[in-house]
Amino acid sequence: MPKLLLIGPATGEMVAALSGTFEVTRLNDLEDPEAWVNRHGAEIAYVGTNGHDGLKPTWMAAMPNLRLISCYGVGYDAIDAVHAAERGILVTHTPNVLNADVAGTAVLLMLACYRELLRDDAYVRSGRWAIEGSAALTRSPEKQRVGILGMGRIGQEIARKLKAFDAEISYHTRSEKDVPHQYFDSLVAMAEHVQCMIVITPGGAATRHLVNEDVINALGPTGTLINVARGSVVDEEALVLALENNRLGWAGLDVFEDEPNVPDRLRSLPNVALLPHAGSATVETRAAMAELTLGYLLHHAKEGTVFSPVPVCVDLR
Ligand code: NAP
Ligand code: 8YV
Repeated sequence: MPKLLLIGPATGEMVAALSGTFEVTRLNDLEDPEAWVNRHGAEIAYVGTNGHDGLKPTWMAAMPNLRLISCYGVGYDAIDAVHAAERGILVTHTPNVLNADVAGTAVLLMLACYRELLRDDAYVRSGRWAIEGSAALTRSPEKQRVGILGMGRIGQEIARKLKAFDAEISYHTRSEKDVPHQYFDSLVAMAEHVQCMIVITPGGAATRHLVNEDVINALGPTGTLINVARGSVVDEEALVLALENNRLGWAGLDVFEDEPNVPDRLRSLPNVALLPHAGSATVETRAAMAELTLGYLLHHAKEGTVFSPVPVCVDLR
C-alpha cells in the first residue's frame, strides 16, 4: 500500500476511509514530526493537508517520491504549487463547494459591522437595555457601494448575495472579468469610491499587503473593511492603527496574519467583528470539502489520475 501523511486534524471516519488504500500516518500522532519526516520522507507518496498547514518546503524536499498533495481548502498558498509542478507533483484543492458559505460569512461580517451586532448583543446581556433604554442607532447595509477585491468563484457569489441588499457592486482584480459590475484597475480608486470593501483574493506573496495604509485611508472613517481571504492580504498593523485612530470605521475579519494569534490591540477594539477563520466551517460544507479531499487521494491511488489539479500557472510567488 502507498504511504500517506495526513497533516492537520482528521476525523476517525476520514482515516477509516483512507486506511484500506493507504498506510496512513497522522502527523498529529507523531512526537517529533520533523525527525519522522527526515527519516521516512522518501517513503511518502501522498500528503493530505489543509490550507493553513500546507506543506513546508523542507518537507516537500525530503519527499523525493511524493506524487500528490491533496489540500482540504480552496486556498493553497501554504503549498509551493509552482515548485510542486516543477517536480511533477500534483496539487489538488476544493474549489466551488465552499463558495456559498464563505460568501455568506462575508455578508455576515458586513451585517455585524453595519448593525453593530456585537455591541448590541453585549447591551442586552449586560442588562443596560433595561436601565438605559434603547441602544444607539446603527447604519443600514441597504444600497451600499461595495467594492470586492477578487472577483473569482467566491467574489462572484458575494456579489450575488449582496443583490438582496441592493448593493452597487464594483471590483478590482488584475484582469477585467466578464461580470456586470464596475471594474477598477486601481485598488485605491475603488477604495475611495466604495463604502464597504470585501477582500477575497488568494493569499501568498503576490497579494501580500495589497490592502495597505493608502487603501485603508481611502476607505476612510465611514468605511468598512471585510476580509475573508487571507490575513496576509491586509497590512494588519496599518489596519489596527487606522481603527484605533478612527481613520477607518469598522472591520469584519475572518482571517489574520498570524493565525491563531490575534493581536491584543485588535481584540480589544469595539469597532471590529472577529471570526476564527470559520468561513467554510459548516458541517455541510466541510463534509463536501472532505469528500473532495479524500476523493482525490483515493482516485489517484486507484487510477493514477486526478479530476482537477490546481492551475499551476497562477503566480503564487
Ligand atoms: P479564485 O476563483 O481563484 O478567485 C481569485 C480572484 O482573486 C480572481 O478574481 C483573481 O483575479 C483575483 N486576484 C488574484 N490575485 C490578485 C491580485 N494580485 N490583485 C487583485 N486580484 C487578484 O479563488 P476563490 O475560489 O474565489 O477563492 C479565493 C480565496 O479565498 C482563496 O484562495 C482563499 O485564500 C480564500 N478563502 C478563504 C476562506 C475562509 O475560510 N476565510 C475559505 C475559502 C477561501 P485576477 O487573477 O484577474 O487578478
Ligand atoms: C479552510 C480556507 O478553513 O478553503 C480555504 O482556502 O481557508 C478554508 O476553507 C482551510 O483550508 C482549512 O484549513
